[in-house]
Amino acid sequence: MSVTIKTPEEQRLMLEAGRAAASVLSMIAPHVKPGVTTEALNQLCHDYIVNELKGIPAPLNYGGGGGRQPFPKSICTSVNHVVCHGIPGEKQLKRGDTINIDVTVIKDGFHGDTSQMFYAGEPSVLARRLSEVTREAMFAGIRKVRPGARLGDIGYAVQQVAEANGYSVVREYCGHGIGRVFHEDPQILHYGRPGTGLELVPGMTFTVEPMLNAGRQDVRLLPDGWTVVTKDHSLSAQWEHTVLVTNTGYEILTLRADEKVPH
Ligand code: MF3
Ligand code: CO
Ligand code: CO
Repeated sequence: MSVTIKTPEEQRLMLEAGRAAASVLSMIAPHVKPGVTTEALNQLCHDYIVNELKGIPAPLNYGGGGGRQPFPKSICTSVNHVVCHGIPGEKQLKRGDTINIDVTVIKDGFHGDTSQMFYAGEPSVLARRLSEVTREAMFAGIRKVRPGARLGDIGYAVQQVAEANGYSVVREYCGHGIGRVFHEDPQILHYGRPGTGLELVPGMTFTVEPMLNAGRQDVRLLPDGWTVVTKDHSLSAQWEHTVLVTNTGYEILTLRADEKVPH
């Protein structure tokens, strides 16, 4: 595989896909509360993507083969100590739970991929802080994006914010190039050294999607072949945006209508 550079027309389609994915998170926000099941959230997102957006939920039936069942649902719902790729099901959210909802929409052949943390009722002080620091770490990485910067600059910026706040960065999962293909080159590590790695050029599109743990960085894959949890059962948080490298910096393709980028 190699890194694809999107043409202006492809960049326009990526923005359409990104905005579609972002709108799903805006739609689902008021539904995240104690008592709702993750399957109910999945159904609402699935119906919205298919019926309102006329898109395709990319996770559904994705990534089978090699002895693993394909992902069986349309979104990922990762609750509390689940790091990523949680499978929606009949478990109800309880007051104080945190949940990452990860949405990937295909529109006109292109993918938009974004996720954010939500709280069911009032979170603990730790849960709120972990979630806010993870969001800050994602934006610290995104703000490094410009032509001439290197992937290590992004990873380093993310890692600095995480570790300065006493949290650890998950190493086994990373961001990725994205376009007509859901997961393409390059890999976007959320740790690294400044001035190292691939040099960014205009027209690249990729995700920045750090996973931070309140405890140790180690993770474990559950026997369902998808659900990733922290080994020490500490809380985990993740935020994700799809970004475009522009001539002067970056454009966040999955920015929500009401969302502000921190400085
Ligand atoms: N949306 C996830 C990502 O950010 C990937 C989910 S793959 C799935 O890359 F199969 F678990 F849905
Ligand atoms: Co992604
Ligand atoms: Co995602």
